Amino acid sequence: MKLILSIMILSGCLLFTLAGCVRKNDYMPPVGATGEKIFKGACVQCHTPVNGKVMILRSEMANKEAIIERVTNGKGFGMPAFPNLTGDSVQNLAEYVLENSVTR
Ligand code: HEC
Repeated sequence: MKLILSIMILSGCLLFTLAGCVRKNDYMPPVGATGEKIFKGACVQCHTPVNGKVMILRSEMANKEAIIERVTNGKGFGMPAFPNLTGDSVQNLAEYVLENSVTR
């Protein structure tokens, strides 16, 4: 009985950890915000610009689709998902990131 209980608790924890892997950020873009404004509101606290470049992108990340996917879904423990960045706001943001990043 005790064993079954511990297994239940353990698997519950595991599920919770897996589901909790990607954090969500409920940043809401202001209406008509530019990519720069969104970046400064939602991203700079983690992606601090260096020499005016906001990010160093791996080559496979250096396109709009990949950036949008990353912003929408997040990644791992570090990069949160932004479910409120959709449509024009995420398009403008991805263009801003691309134009102001270096690719390695
Ligand atoms: C809480 C901190 C945090 C915030 C806020 C954040 N990021 Fe990230 N971001 C990370 C971390 C950490 C990674 C690396 C994740 C990995 O690859 O495992 C990352 C990775 C990325 C990547 C992939 C870069 C590459 O070359 O692999 C992009 C693109 C990105 N972030 C864009 C954004 C944008 C745009 C925003 C604002 C909407 C944002 N991030 C907000 C922490 C953050």
